[in-house]
Amino acid sequence: MKRLLLSLAILLSSAMAFAGEGMWIPMLLQYNEKEMQEMGMRITADDIYSINHSSLKDAIVLFGGGCTGEIVSDYGLLLTNHHCGYDYIQQHSSVNHDYLTDGFWAMDRSQELPCPGLTVVFLREMRDVTAQVLDQVTDDMTEEKRQATINENTKRIIAEVEKTTPYKVSIKAFFCGNEYYLLLNEVFTDVRLVGCPPSNIGKFGGDTDNWVWPRHTGDFSVFRVYADKDGHPADYSADNVPYKPAKHLDISLKGAEEGDFAFVFGYPARTNEYLPAVAVDQEANVIDPIAVRLRGEILDIYNKYQEQDRKVRIQYASKHAGLGNGWKKWMGVTEGINHFHGVEKKRFYEKSFEEWCYVTFQRSFYFNLLEQFDKKYKELEPYKVAYTYLTNAGLNIELIDFAGNFAKLSQVTKDTPKEEIDDMIVSLKEASKEFFKNYYQPIDEEVAKTMLNEYLENQPADFRPSFLNEIKDVDAYVAMLFSKSMFCDEQKVNDFLEKFRLSSVKKLQKDPALVAYQSMINFYREDVNPKMKPINEELARLQRLYMKGQMQMEPEKHFSPDANFTLRVTYGKVEGFKPQDGKNYRHFTTLEGIMEKENPDIYDYVVEPKLKELFNNKDYGRYADKDGTMHVAFTASVHTTGGNSGSPILNADGQLLGLNFDRCWEGTMSDLVYDPNICRNISVDIRYVLFIMDKFAGAKHLVDEMTIVE
Ligand code: ARG
Ligand code: ASP
Repeated sequence: MKRLLLSLAILLSSAMAFAGEGMWIPMLLQYNEKEMQEMGMRITADDIYSINHSSLKDAIVLFGGGCTGEIVSDYGLLLTNHHCGYDYIQQHSSVNHDYLTDGFWAMDRSQELPCPGLTVVFLREMRDVTAQVLDQVTDDMTEEKRQATINENTKRIIAEVEKTTPYKVSIKAFFCGNEYYLLLNEVFTDVRLVGCPPSNIGKFGGDTDNWVWPRHTGDFSVFRVYADKDGHPADYSADNVPYKPAKHLDISLKGAEEGDFAFVFGYPARTNEYLPAVAVDQEANVIDPIAVRLRGEILDIYNKYQEQDRKVRIQYASKHAGLGNGWKKWMGVTEGINHFHGVEKKRFYEKSFEEWCYVTFQRSFYFNLLEQFDKKYKELEPYKVAYTYLTNAGLNIELIDFAGNFAKLSQVTKDTPKEEIDDMIVSLKEASKEFFKNYYQPIDEEVAKTMLNEYLENQPADFRPSFLNEIKDVDAYVAMLFSKSMFCDEQKVNDFLEKFRLSSVKKLQKDPALVAYQSMINFYREDVNPKMKPINEELARLQRLYMKGQMQMEPEKHFSPDANFTLRVTYGKVEGFKPQDGKNYRHFTTLEGIMEKENPDIYDYVVEPKLKELFNNKDYGRYADKDGTMHVAFTASVHTTGGNSGSPILNADGQLLGLNFDRCWEGTMSDLVYDPNICRNISVDIRYVLFIMDKFAGAKHLVDEMTIVE
């Protein structure tokens, strides 16, 4: 019976690691090559990643530190998502030229707009440095000694390699600290905005459709990487020239059929596929529901005011999108984990792990591992809950969060250098301008009342910031806060900064919003973090051990390391899915669907007149599918996560099919437990992207730069 259980569990876990699950290290792709080719791939692992000749990896970049982008011409032309380029589009937008609303297209290179602060990173090489990093590290070392040894080794290796390369050198941990890889990166800093569709296309469906299939978002924007005359990274200069990449992606106009092999190449940020059941349960059933409830209440308040006033709607659009993105995702995580029995599957697997452990004393360091997990996660829980309240309830009171910007100024003394104070004043004036542009006090007052009540009702006194324990009546406190604090009045803040002198510090220190902020920060620094830190360190140790144990238990299995913002390949098939009994989703959507959703009265569903005209005339040119329609988006069973936004999704020949931008709501649990039946990524079809550029925006010159395979 025991043996049966063990083999069943292993079968289950290998089934969980089916073709399609996993975020693979490109330099080790030779181990996946056979499976990828069996699934239909016609290129080799070496075509995807090589350091001896140009390969697809030379066309993939980390965009803006949080998304992926890809190079599609010999002149450094780059594609990413609209939501990834959003901040830079906004940076260049004003009432006179509102590129967010109207879109923007540089008709020649002189019109391309520099984006200060935007970086694009190319991975040049990756090396396995596990042995060097773990040199002198032993199993019986204390964690502290272990970390110190690793830090020392890392520093030394980086210093040595830096002498031999012009690239930026870093080392990252994989497999929960069981393996280490060195990365050589080239960072470009002159990146310019080339084009973006109007929001009615780039954000079509908005927050309503976010995380949802069927989807019709033209989620793309276009940039260009510039370099100095020798092709090296250089800060913005009018003399810089378009960067010539070692490789750019070819673009397929053939589209993809159901069942076709497809892969995504990009920068997934973070997954946790190897956690114990107790951690998944805590995340999905304790932490996420709290964050969802708190954010849900705030979003309801935003909605109420946004519906009443157009100006408020715009002011709170970005905040709404930010809060709403996590809110909706975490709801999906809880739903998915419970519906698809994620915790039970993990428990089942853990039983087999324990049986495997207790077979021999050689595995004694894994004994009780799962019990220790249980104990530590239980210890962690109240602090994690406290942290969730702090970030979602406390710091979402905008007035208090904004006051926090002045914390440093409130600490200046006669010994603080004058230049330092002057710098603070300048940046605070900037911050204040930004803040008040999008601030609506009635919303914030209502949020404050709701969140403080939440806090007082649901968090015990010693698990909340101390200022809360002095509140007798929330309404009276909020009334006092908003009448006494200067931070809800732009004029007062500006006057204060204008006339700032040392004696003003007292006034600052007494401001109730800053008092509340300090109380929250002190609570975190003194009561939460010191408790959480050692528990998290111990959990990291246990997790490292558990990861190692899982790999030892199944030596035949090919494990993929959790995402950690390094370049990865993930693959699967273009396919739809059946999220529920009786529901069967097709794998693609078309322009017809945009017309079906059209509603001039609902902001998210306004259709551009020009797009309607093209639709009515069926003027799709060579971008139409062979079925005659204009395909907009498609789903695939490719394992992706945050950071994969903007990643290319490629066909069997390594040609661009589309840009990844989201996942289906039913499968958002994939960061914790991946289920091939239900987890789907969503991409915008490259033919729709080119159609919008060419036919809608008249920017055919950009398409002409690309290599198109018809
Ligand atoms: N859900 C996608 C990703 O996490 C897209 C987010 C941007 N779109 C939006 N409507 N908020 O991050
Ligand atoms: N929308 C996400 C991103 O911005 C992608 C995802 O979570 O699937 O990276």
